[in-house]
Amino acid sequence: MRVTVLNGPNLNLLGTREPELYGRDTLADLERVVRERAATLDVELTWRQTNHEGELVDFVQALPETADGAVVNAAALTHTSIAVRDALLAVRVPFVEVHLSNIFAREPARRQSLLADLAIGVIAGFGTRSYVLGLEALVGHLAAGGARSP
Ligand code: DQA
Repeated sequence: MRVTVLNGPNLNLLGTREPELYGRDTLADLERVVRERAATLDVELTWRQTNHEGELVDFVQALPETADGAVVNAAALTHTSIAVRDALLAVRVPFVEVHLSNIFAREPARRQSLLADLAIGVIAGFGTRSYVLGLEALVGHLAAGGARSP
């Protein structure tokens, strides 16, 4: 099974960025933990991060050729990007939306996701664990024969 993890803007700053919200793990730490879990699940993992909306759209557009499913933390673009939403709608690759923080317990602008209704599900608020839980949920969904998002 092939899974791509997509990370949006400012997640490259994890570790030093608002650690009270996002923890002290760096993006590399996070990647290592997710890769370890992927290995035990026999998942071939691709890891991407970008600070640019258009590049995130490009990553989404590449999914049908490269992945059976995706774990997506679009970061701030979750709340604003119709372009990322349109790309996910176009490719229809199943994905789980993840967030380190509980976006539903934060400022009103962050409580809205433009992607969530396209996702298999959303996991938010568990820090680094959100990604591991998201990967496990995605793999379970795919293994059960789940295909496209609605
Ligand atoms: C985030 C939450 C977003 O609101 C924020 O813009 C981020 C990170 C999270 O993982 O908690 O950059 O997606």
